[in-house]
Amino acid sequence: MASILLLGTATLDLVFGLSHHPHADEEMRAESLRTVRGGNAANSAVVLSQLGHQAEFLGTLADAPESSVITQDFERYGVGYAHCPRLPGKPPTSSIYLAGDTRSIVHYRDLPELSATAIEAVDLYGCDWVHFEGRNIPETQTMMQYVRMHRPDLPISLELEKPRDGIAVLFGLADLLICSSGFAQHDGNSEPHDFLRWMQQRAPQAKIVLASGQQGAYGLDAQGAIYHAAAVSPASMVDTLGAGDTFNAAIIHAAFAQSGVQAMLDQACSLAGAKCGVPGFALGDLL
Ligand code: FRU
Repeated sequence: MASILLLGTATLDLVFGLSHHPHADEEMRAESLRTVRGGNAANSAVVLSQLGHQAEFLGTLADAPESSVITQDFERYGVGYAHCPRLPGKPPTSSIYLAGDTRSIVHYRDLPELSATAIEAVDLYGCDWVHFEGRNIPETQTMMQYVRMHRPDLPISLELEKPRDGIAVLFGLADLLICSSGFAQHDGNSEPHDFLRWMQQRAPQAKIVLASGQQGAYGLDAQGAIYHAAAVSPASMVDTLGAGDTFNAAIIHAAFAQSGVQAMLDQACSLAGAKCGVPGFALGDLL
C-alpha cells in the first residue's frame, strides 16, 4: 500500500437532505441535517485511507473551534494532517442541498489558500504518490515543480474539476489527469473522445481520465487508445456528495497498482456508484 499526499481543501459541509430543491422565495423544512468534513482532496484522502493507504492531507486549516469537525474526521480515518498550516479565520464552508440524485453546493471561503512553501515541510522521500487539486494555480504550479525537481520519479495526479484562469500551466506537470465533465465541456469539447484527444495534445506525457457522471467514465492511455466504463448505480440513491472525490481516490488506487486504463475506470465507477448508496464516506462494507 502507498503513502499518498493529497493537496487541496478541507471544508465544513452543512448537508441538508431535502424533498426537492428550493425555488426562489420558498421557505421549506429540511428532512435531515449533518455537519461534516468535506473538500475534494480531503474526501479523497478519507477514501484512500479506507482502501488501505497511508493518506496525508495538506491544505490550510482555520485556527477556529469549527475546524475540529475536520480534524476529528481525519483522526477517525487515520488521515495525517500534521503539516497543515493553521491560519486565522473560519473554515471554508459549504451549504449543500441533497434532493434525490442531485446536489447543489453554495460555497464560501475567505481562508487563504496554501502557500507553495508549505510542501517543504513534507518528507517527499516518504511519499509514493502526490495528488493535487487544480486550484490556487501559481502556488500549485510551484509545488508541482518542487516535487518534479526533488523526486522526479514520484507519480503526480491532478484533478481538473473547474476551468480556472491559467490552469493549463499545470497540464504538463502531471502523470495522471482526472477531469470532470464540467471541465471538459467548458472548453467546447462536448464529446468525450474529442476532449481526450484535445487534452492529449496539451499533456502528451499523461494518462487522462474523464468522469462523466451518468455517462460513466472515459480514459486514454499512453498509446492514445480510448476506453469507457459505464456508470454504476446503487440499489438506492442515498448520497451523491463526494462521488467524484471517491472516483478520484479509486483511480489513484488503481493507478498505483498499475492497473490498465479499463480496469481503473471499471473500479472507479463501481466504487463511486456504491458510495452513492451510503451516507457520507464510511465505505467499510463496500470495500
Ligand atoms: C464535494 C465537495 C464538498 C465541498 C465542496 C467544495 O466534492 O468537496 O465536500 O463542500 O465539494 O467545492
